[in-house]
Amino acid sequence: MNAPLIIVGAGIAGLCAALAAAPRPVLLLNRSPPVRDGGSDAATALAQGGIAAALAAGDSAEAHVADTLVAGAQHNERSAVEYLCTQGAHAIEWLQAQGVEFDRDAIGALALGREGGHRCARIVHAGGDASGARVLAALTRRVQAARHVRWRSGVEVNALLVRGDAVAGVRVRSLGGREQFLTASAVLLATGGVGGLFAATTNPESAQGRGLALALAAHAPMRDLEFVQFHPTALAVQSGVRLPLLTEALRGAGAVLRDAAGVALMQGVHELADLAPRDIVARCVFAALQSGRGAFLHCEHLGLDWEHAFPTVLAQCHAHGFDPRTQPLPVQPAAHFHMGGIAVDLDGRSSVPGLYAVGEVACNGLHGANRLASNSLLEGVVYGRRVGAHAAKSATDPLRRRTLWIADPGHALEPEALARLRRCVGESLGPLRARQRIDAARHFIGADANLAGSAQGKVALAMLEAAAARRESLGAHHWEVNEAIDATQSA
Ligand code: SIN
Repeated sequence: MNAPLIIVGAGIAGLCAALAAAPRPVLLLNRSPPVRDGGSDAATALAQGGIAAALAAGDSAEAHVADTLVAGAQHNERSAVEYLCTQGAHAIEWLQAQGVEFDRDAIGALALGREGGHRCARIVHAGGDASGARVLAALTRRVQAARHVRWRSGVEVNALLVRGDAVAGVRVRSLGGREQFLTASAVLLATGGVGGLFAATTNPESAQGRGLALALAAHAPMRDLEFVQFHPTALAVQSGVRLPLLTEALRGAGAVLRDAAGVALMQGVHELADLAPRDIVARCVFAALQSGRGAFLHCEHLGLDWEHAFPTVLAQCHAHGFDPRTQPLPVQPAAHFHMGGIAVDLDGRSSVPGLYAVGEVACNGLHGANRLASNSLLEGVVYGRRVGAHAAKSATDPLRRRTLWIADPGHALEPEALARLRRCVGESLGPLRARQRIDAARHFIGADANLAGSAQGKVALAMLEAAAARRESLGAHHWEVNEAIDATQSA
């Protein structure tokens, strides 16, 4: 069979999968053009913190597993966590072999930072807080040089081609509007998350659940769609849907969240205070803003070499008229990471033959109900490589592939309708949820044929249904107090 493996998406998971698929020919498809510095519409380019790996003296893969399970509210698939954490050190070595230069300390060892939910310093980083961009740039160069990969950028995959019960290709639309069918030995979705469906996100605005919509159209089962992680410290500026991220590594370096009166927000809330798991900190910041106390990140006392340690944060703050060295920074939670996704096994196989998924669009249960900080780039490397190698071997039985149909997720929303959907999703699927708001949002979308028939609207409805179905608070899915009591009473 000569058809290539088609990989959709060129973030860290898609690029690692493409490299691991050799010698199988790969056709890599993505929307934005690849550029040498790694800039693209992949969320990887915006990742600041780094990559978690148990490298410190006294640390271990077992400790990393335990921290991942605690952050995930023990909702994780343990085998997925164990595979990730035992591969951490190897993933860092492999990235170095691909040309990634991680930051080093004064004696030349890898410099390790600390983030929320980690019991010790465990985060490898590059270019200070430019980790994602540096990793993406190195992997981009490798993939561009790989002879088995043909990279077609500037195209949108807008449907899956299904023969019988197996995915056998994609329909693409070029920037000029020309549509074309492309056949594949298998299709691997690595399209990222859903932050762009929310009114405020740290993701690229284009992260609108495209892969989920494609998989839903092909009747692939989903898992844990209700779990959306909010980053507690997006810079609270009126700059559109995407807000600048203030990396958790700042709190790892000693930054403190306070209300407008100077009271420390996390004191007495959790034993790790500002370094509590992210869902807990996000709810605290959200509650402080809702009650009018305000929420600010104080970095003035850190005494850092900012240009070296946090150049991205510094530049973003300056661009919005703030100086983290001299003034507190106003913060708000923003949609950051989707723990749920297309239900897959550890090899990335969905329940639909020929359809694979990896990275944020997939859910193998790794992150449970709330992802541990800096586990997502590690996931992109570890599972990207595993799933790419596995999908490359996939060959569906041609005898089963008779009737041909097109799994079309629906149209893309125009800006005005998308803004309405974002408001609705932001109000109903935030860090604190109320059943009444979720029901109202389902009704609002369902009653509007344009929203309900769109790819984005279908993903939002699937997430709302998953949230409505979960009775208890768990990890990032948190009912307001009276809702939790109601749910307990009626259980
Ligand atoms: C951050 O740098 O705060 C984000 C890291 C992550 O999402 O794991």
